[in-house]
Amino acid sequence: MTRFGHFDDEAREYVISRPNTPLPWINYLGSEEYFGIISNTAGGYSFYRDARLRRLTRYRYHNAPTDTGGRYLYLRDRATGDYWSPSWAPIRTDLDDYRCRHGLGYTVIGSRRDGIEAETLYFVPLGETLEIWRAGITNHREEDAALSLFSLVEFCLWDAWDDQTNYQRNLSTGEVEVVDGVVYHTTEYRERRNHFAYFACSEEVAGFDTQRETFLGGPYRGWDRPVVVERGRSDDSIAHGWAPIGSHQVELTLAPGETREVVFVLGYGENPPDSKFDPPGSGTIDKRRVAPVIEKYLRTNEVDDALGRLREHWSELLGRVRVSTPSEHTDRMVNVWNAYQCMVTFNLARSASYFDTGVGRGMGFRDSSQDLLGFVHMVPERARGRILDLAATQLSTGGAYHQYQPLTKRGNDAIGSGFNDDPLWLILAVAAYVKETGDRGILDEPVPYDNEQGSETPLYEHLRRALGYTLDRLGPHGLPLIGRADWNDCLNLNAFLEDPGESFQTAPQREGGVAESAFIAGQFALAAEELARLADLHGIPDDAEDDRAQRVRMIEAMRYHGWDGDWFRRAYDFFGDVVGSAENDEGQIWIEPQGMCVMGGIGLDDGRAGIALASVEQRLATPHGLVLLDPAFSRYHVELGEISSYPPGYKENGGVFSHTNPWIAIAETMVGNADRAFETYLRINPSAREELSDVHRCEPYVYAQMIAGKAAAKPGEAKNSWLTGSAAWNFVAITQWILGIRPEHDGLRIDPCLPSEWEGFEAVRSFRGATYRIDVRKPAGVTGRVSSLTVDGEEMDGNIVSPAPAGAVVAVEASVSGP
Ligand code: BGC
Ligand code: NOJ
Repeated sequence: MTRFGHFDDEAREYVISRPNTPLPWINYLGSEEYFGIISNTAGGYSFYRDARLRRLTRYRYHNAPTDTGGRYLYLRDRATGDYWSPSWAPIRTDLDDYRCRHGLGYTVIGSRRDGIEAETLYFVPLGETLEIWRAGITNHREEDAALSLFSLVEFCLWDAWDDQTNYQRNLSTGEVEVVDGVVYHTTEYRERRNHFAYFACSEEVAGFDTQRETFLGGPYRGWDRPVVVERGRSDDSIAHGWAPIGSHQVELTLAPGETREVVFVLGYGENPPDSKFDPPGSGTIDKRRVAPVIEKYLRTNEVDDALGRLREHWSELLGRVRVSTPSEHTDRMVNVWNAYQCMVTFNLARSASYFDTGVGRGMGFRDSSQDLLGFVHMVPERARGRILDLAATQLSTGGAYHQYQPLTKRGNDAIGSGFNDDPLWLILAVAAYVKETGDRGILDEPVPYDNEQGSETPLYEHLRRALGYTLDRLGPHGLPLIGRADWNDCLNLNAFLEDPGESFQTAPQREGGVAESAFIAGQFALAAEELARLADLHGIPDDAEDDRAQRVRMIEAMRYHGWDGDWFRRAYDFFGDVVGSAENDEGQIWIEPQGMCVMGGIGLDDGRAGIALASVEQRLATPHGLVLLDPAFSRYHVELGEISSYPPGYKENGGVFSHTNPWIAIAETMVGNADRAFETYLRINPSAREELSDVHRCEPYVYAQMIAGKAAAKPGEAKNSWLTGSAAWNFVAITQWILGIRPEHDGLRIDPCLPSEWEGFEAVRSFRGATYRIDVRKPAGVTGRVSSLTVDGEEMDGNIVSPAPAGAVVAVEASVSGP
């Protein structure tokens, strides 16, 4: 059992106590327009709004060493010539002490070497397009310490894709300006760009560098041995082409016990296109807009204030759901880390992490719709905006682009099209939004199709078309045609790819097949009921009746063609052959339809839900979570696609695909299997896996998309942390279904389904402007459901608490009893 740190629950930080974590353990800076990822050794990069098109600093993914490029400081002892990195990287000399505290929107990296302590705080102030590094250097020696401090960033030439591929051009384009110790990165500013980056320092600088080779000492030295640091003197180099960097040299002489704070500000500046230069036409950046901002944040009191505001901001967001349960893993994930991760998925979608390079994907239609389930209670207004942006990329057929670009908000096919599950997720997102906020007005909001002006219809009509899209595409068994794939991007039943260069996600599809998805059938059952409820609210009972009738038809189709005897089948392939059946040699049972069909209410009335879930437990459960399917595919099946391209046990091919586990946890609560629901939740809870850090390898404070499954070489090894729908769904599973505090149209339902050993829990939940203090009591040894509910002391029928006026504080007491 190896740990690399611990949770500081009070401070809401994860404290890493060794720099050489199994993988870089990262955090996010920024939550509006300026963002960065930062590892526990100060690796990572920054960007403005779009990680591909406005990349400020350079990062080369999965390098050797793996985490190369970052926000580096170097300290040099002028008396001895000894030099080191206070964040360990990039020099990696031994430190006498090291800790990294990842907090909510900030990271602090501290260390000590030879009596010199350095602690650097990194964060992005709210409302600004810049990041602050505040380095506090303390001399713990008995005598004066004469030190040089060097800073370092390497600039990316804005378009991160071009930056890594088009060297014939970009080794000639780099430009900088240096004025009063501020380094301005100005590549392409002379022509079409009106934005630049700047890197400033609060102290008078003894020197600077902007040319990488000069700083390093030629092309054969790395960041771990820069000649400028080695000899202790900057070269005042000005970059012309090649690789522009920003580096300052600051001389410090510290008396024994003295601390000095040095602030660096790295930021993004923009000028109106017609006033880029000062004087006009000169080619010199007009700095009048940016100067006051730089000046402001180089002052330590401003830094303190900005940090205070950031802390308040997060307290406010996270304060909206707070729980106190017998499980510390539950408490710290719900109260801090899972909610925080949900906000990161709101901000970053699937763009920039340690696994997503920021050059690939925009906002996924399916992904963002699901992410919303996890953040709607924290940022309802922004969730509303997200829904309208998503819906505006919908097509008039009811179908959807698979993604849109955040900078333009236009839908596109760059990562594939024709995923037939996509439109239905919008219904689930809107339903969640209306339940949380009570804002039915959103249904009347005019929204265009494919962003075409003049094509607007009320959002409600978009949802109707989304449901209709499925009904217009039914296969021979009455089940929805799958298209390119459904939620499982790798179940490509119409692909038939033989050529290694082709992408399963974008290659042309074979025409003429009848491939159907039982997963979409389950999703349809769920979405049709949600839309029927919205239709009722919207005053159109006929629509509601239609939706419910279609739902019943779909459930019937599943009864005849979707049930395999012990579980729900997965699909029918191009030729109409079954997928996910005991008849198959491999891939007999798949997790997704078991979760989604039960959530859609299929099999609840006739026992099939319980049977399916028992099969999940028997066939898919492992100590590291529930694998996606069993047995994993051992060879490539051309008729199934990418799923069988992965080695057994990885990713969709039988990995523990974290996103799907909470579906099962929810389904278990629906059939009343309280202990199994919680066990399912806990198995992949990152905090509960902390003690397995050397096996798990990813951060113990956030969900990873995938944990290698039982068929893999290294079961339990996680990959693709942070940007995953697992965040939202786990948050929903634990807060709404296991703890059972569930926003519904009529109010807050209190429907806990608790592990037998618990004796209850307490929670505070904001809901439509009021605050609910919820106390749930239950005798140990039983599970059961709510048997009595009082609201402000008054006994209620049922388990719904009606919405109270905004500002009210409501006391809710629930007793659970049962077997
Ligand atoms: C991955 C999927 C992912 C898809 C996105 C595939 O390679 O296995 O998890 O959804 O790419 O395009
Ligand atoms: C990750 C993708 O982002 C998501 O859209 C997809 O549903 C899952 N992988 C499963 O393939």
